[in-house]
Amino acid sequence: TSASGKKPLRLAFESLRGARLDSVVVPEGYTAQVLIPWGAGLTSDVPEWREDLEMTPEIQANAIGMHHDGMYHFPLGQGSESREFLLAINHEYIDQSALWAPRGGPTNAQEGQRPADEVRTEINAHGVAVVHVKKQADGRWRHVVDSPYNRRITNASEMDIGGPLAGSDYVKTRFSPQGTRTRGTSNNCGNGYTPWGTYLACEENWPGYFVRNAQRRRDDDRLGIASGRGRYGWETAAGDASEHRDEFARFDTTPTAADATGDYRNEARTYGYQVEVDPYDGSRRAVKRTAMGRFRHEGCWPGKLVAGEPVVFYSGHDSRNEYIYKFVSRAAWDPADTNRSDANVDRLAIGAKYLDEGTLYAARFDADGRGEWLALTPEAVTRDGRRLHEALGLAADDQAGIIVHTCDAADLMGATPMDRPEWGTVDPTSGDVYMTLTNNSQRTAADTEPTYTHGGSDIEEPGVGYGTAPVNAANPRPDNATGQVIRWRDSDDVTRFDWEVFVFGAATSDPDNLSGLTELNQFASPDGLWYDDRGNGDGILWIQTDNGYDGVADDTNDQVLAVVPNGLQAGDARSVLNETNQQHLKRFAVGPNGCEVTGIFATPDKTALFINIQHPGNWPASEDATRQAAGKVRPRASTVVIQKLDGGQVGV
Ligand code: FEO
Ligand code: CA
Ligand code: CA
Ligand code: CA
Repeated sequence: TSASGKKPLRLAFESLRGARLDSVVVPEGYTAQVLIPWGAGLTSDVPEWREDLEMTPEIQANAIGMHHDGMYHFPLGQGSESREFLLAINHEYIDQSALWAPRGGPTNAQEGQRPADEVRTEINAHGVAVVHVKKQADGRWRHVVDSPYNRRITNASEMDIGGPLAGSDYVKTRFSPQGTRTRGTSNNCGNGYTPWGTYLACEENWPGYFVRNAQRRRDDDRLGIASGRGRYGWETAAGDASEHRDEFARFDTTPTAADATGDYRNEARTYGYQVEVDPYDGSRRAVKRTAMGRFRHEGCWPGKLVAGEPVVFYSGHDSRNEYIYKFVSRAAWDPADTNRSDANVDRLAIGAKYLDEGTLYAARFDADGRGEWLALTPEAVTRDGRRLHEALGLAADDQAGIIVHTCDAADLMGATPMDRPEWGTVDPTSGDVYMTLTNNSQRTAADTEPTYTHGGSDIEEPGVGYGTAPVNAANPRPDNATGQVIRWRDSDDVTRFDWEVFVFGAATSDPDNLSGLTELNQFASPDGLWYDDRGNGDGILWIQTDNGYDGVADDTNDQVLAVVPNGLQAGDARSVLNETNQQHLKRFAVGPNGCEVTGIFATPDKTALFINIQHPGNWPASEDATRQAAGKVRPRASTVVIQKLDGGQVGV
């Protein structure tokens, strides 16, 4: 019992053994309920799910999308926030074989012209869903079909461009000659939310959906815009300048006209952002908040809030040897803006105040446990002593150009190439930031020279666009197959922080099992992450995995782990969790075969933990008796609600 009279927080479940089943495994005394799987109708027009349901553009536009990832909850009223709320959820990408199972797979997946209706359906299976959910008297959850709040945002929805790119030449297209709008958000992976009550859908693996076959630019190469054919060949549905031209030709960004307002050469520059969604008002277009940088955004997490101080957001670029970023608003936090769920509030105007003007920084992690935030502004001085705008070949006031080339700017400033940053989360009391670094096959030994495989045509200097990078203090294992979780705390000086490794992933059999994990908590490829504040300065850190590593996968499917970080200290060890205290890290849930486990939050009363099961192989079990008997179902990503049978708080 502490001085405050409250008991310290303790996890009250036995760590699970590994499992490899077609089901979600939870501790004794808990239940796991499937909620809103792919295809669940938001309106009563949508047919009931069947194993042989033929998906159409119309059905998919009014149903839950595919491959659930990040999500967040938005209350509908005081006092009911743990029983009824709006769930905003990312639909990252698609499983074409499941989507088109009734017709034996997609048409012309690899070559030839894709049919327009298949492409429209696939476009509508991406994006964001806002869905009204409710707990029933029997304790089970359901979604409210035909709720006026239910809404889909897809890879075709019209949206606004905010921040430095808005109205700039960089984003002028045939669709928006003024450079103020675009269509669609894509590959929304981890998510974010704002303190004023909006959702952030973060654009991650979007570059491969666009092709460019001539006049490629530096950022096309750096970010990985495709050559030849896009990931799903959507651009082929445009055919020969037919009626579909504007609908699908935008995925081919090769210049075809005299200037940018006649074609889609700039379409890909309208992607790669944090996208702000007002979950309460379906009449409002989403806004791409470009001041927060352009890259493969995993997610976005607000830092500790202090009245009168700027609002801070952390984010990461999930690619090998890319960077961690922080955005610091120009506007100071006004507590009157907190969670504005009330009607007649312009939440996106509040968003513009905090997110359209501010400073973007990239992180350098130093070997002494300190770190520096490097401002990405035109006048910043690069590590070789030039002005950043000069080093990038930009005009002195071109912040929009810095944003288009965010990654090159971070290279030039000397940011630390990381082992694929995935989710972050913040302890709101201490301000500690945790972030998963999932793995890195392009991390090389200490005495190797880095290689530079991207960075494009007009920057050909060492230090720009790492292909491989040697180990560094924060990323200390070559050919890192299992990842780590780091944490840092910003100092009062906005440009400084202190950091340490929290835990290293590993299989028990690995020689570099640096945190001493056992069969009860071995994990690889940490991805989802959430600091679950339980009050009194205490909380649970939930860690989810997306595992491609046989050493662990031979023993268990992807999983959810939990630990109470408070009071744990690294001492002389290489990580905070280590041989002496690793038993505090416990396996709480294991997902079905073939999946990754992602997207996590609990209701405010902590009695229901919501997670997502993405790309399952053979789950959830079908109502169709024939398919069930055959032991094979049409897989559907889904949200899962984990609750205690006795209705108590999850985890404790
Ligand atoms: Fe979509 Fe980085 O996971
Ligand atoms: Ca994923
Ligand atoms: Ca992820
Ligand atoms: Ca991942």
